[in-house]
Amino acid sequence: MDFRVRIIEWLAEQTSLPQEQLSEWLEVPPQPALGDYAFPCFRLARTMRQAPPVIAASLAKKAPVGQDWLERVEAVGGYLNFFMNRASFISRTISAVLRAETPLAASDEGQGKNVIVEYSSPNIAKPFHVGHAFTTILGHALYKIYDRLGYNAIRMNHLGDYGTQFGKLIVAYRLWGDEAALLKEPIKELLRIYVLFHDQAKDKPELEHQAREAFRNLEDGADEEVKLWKRFRDLSLEAFNSVYERLGVSFDYFYGESFYSDKISEVVNLLNEKEVMVESEGAQVVMLDEYDLPPCIILKSDGTTIYASRDLAAVLFREKTWSFERNIYVVGMPQALHFRQVFSVLDKAGVEAAKRCVHVGFGLVKFPDRKLSTRSGDVIFLEDLLQESVDKTLDIIRRNDQLRQADMSEEEMRQVAEKIGIGAIIYTFLKNGRERDIVFSWDEMLDFDGDSAPYVQYTYARARSILRKAGSDAAVAAADLEQLSLLGNDDEFALAKLIDGYSAAVRKAAQAYEPYMVVRHVTTLARAFNKYYNQTSILRTEDPALRVARLILLQAVCETIRSGLELVGIEVVERM
Ligand code: ARG
Repeated sequence: MDFRVRIIEWLAEQTSLPQEQLSEWLEVPPQPALGDYAFPCFRLARTMRQAPPVIAASLAKKAPVGQDWLERVEAVGGYLNFFMNRASFISRTISAVLRAETPLAASDEGQGKNVIVEYSSPNIAKPFHVGHAFTTILGHALYKIYDRLGYNAIRMNHLGDYGTQFGKLIVAYRLWGDEAALLKEPIKELLRIYVLFHDQAKDKPELEHQAREAFRNLEDGADEEVKLWKRFRDLSLEAFNSVYERLGVSFDYFYGESFYSDKISEVVNLLNEKEVMVESEGAQVVMLDEYDLPPCIILKSDGTTIYASRDLAAVLFREKTWSFERNIYVVGMPQALHFRQVFSVLDKAGVEAAKRCVHVGFGLVKFPDRKLSTRSGDVIFLEDLLQESVDKTLDIIRRNDQLRQADMSEEEMRQVAEKIGIGAIIYTFLKNGRERDIVFSWDEMLDFDGDSAPYVQYTYARARSILRKAGSDAAVAAADLEQLSLLGNDDEFALAKLIDGYSAAVRKAAQAYEPYMVVRHVTTLARAFNKYYNQTSILRTEDPALRVARLILLQAVCETIRSGLELVGIEVVERM
């Protein structure tokens, strides 16, 4: 039951303004004493040609107070403050959650619309490092959110599996490749020879020349080069897949850069046809002065393609294949200029789909005590980071029997540690706005009292254990939802509001491409639950009807927390 919607509908009747506009203006006051919702009437001053307090007062008189959803309305200054009927609100909200036949926050807003979410896109033969962790985790959460809202969401991995660096790898492998090492730890071996190539090429420029030749052969489809390239690609994918599996991430398509190498001619034809391509120092470029951007190279002077050419081809291909509603690129902010160029080239060529492409950027990942860079080989592998997190979590759980059942077996501890350790990493990437840099801190990530996955997961497990103790799932299911109208204290009302606000948080997260809005919402819900739990002994409630009502509320809290965590890729723990 969306009280908010009711208010908006009523306001729309009164003001004849569009609902979306009113909805944007309706606020949640900072203090509950000012109402559950507040409407700032100065927004209406222009259309209604009256002073805000006058508007507020006259609307307040007409409000449909006394109906089962609205208890009272107060005009305070220029604000119209709405107070909901608590009992009615709580029981409707909770029963809606428990009776829902679709997953929470499901909607049909996306029905029949294709949304491509491109994320992860690591580079073959390079380590899957923490920057790729950011796009992988963020993109996966966005995919799930769009999927939940009913969109036909398509998971795309634009692998970096093409380009001159493969010429370098081929040369390096022929010179220094160690077959046994390649089979054992492919990425580490490929990285080793790649780094070696750069070291050696400083004094031996002929290496660069050989590399260009090897790449040319690869582009021409020469057997030997293609075979090596395929091998590097397969081995790398295998390694990436084990990381994906651990994170619970998967894809619908691995259309990497190489996939587009034979589709560049369409780009070139289009740009020629629209007469937007010019020659500059031998290269074919599109000038972008009118967009305030540097020119975008399409073909280099030797006729070879670049990263941007392949991205242009990808947009055309995706539009042709899916007629996308939106084409989302989850890629770090350092590539913002690249995407502005790609979208602008298409816009200049009159490709309308360019307007439906979005670059969703994110900040840097910083390790206060370690350094990050690919060339030197001194990188942090994501798989090592995940393992470290799981190990540290296991240690915490093992040492601290307040955080777990005293009789927990070693095996169970390991399972719990896996979920919490991985959850802690995912949470860290999604807890703040995506453009903010992330400073890694184990203490914060694994703080069972802080804003962390362990905190929310532990809260969930605790709430589930209360339900188990009450032997309640069956009792709760059978209970008459009428009893819910017994709930109504401040904490219970606050919990119901958070449960009710969950769907809106999911919708907003999709609009802003910000999964943190979901993460923060469930964290706030977990905090509100802990506060309630510390003040109200649910199991020892004397009135049996009220006790059941509280257990039902608890069940709705659990379902909302689980829904939110799972929506961003974090698994819950039922018992710890
Ligand atoms: N492979 C690139 C990298 O690791 C990211 C690819 C981003 N996607 C794209 N369509 N350009 O930096």
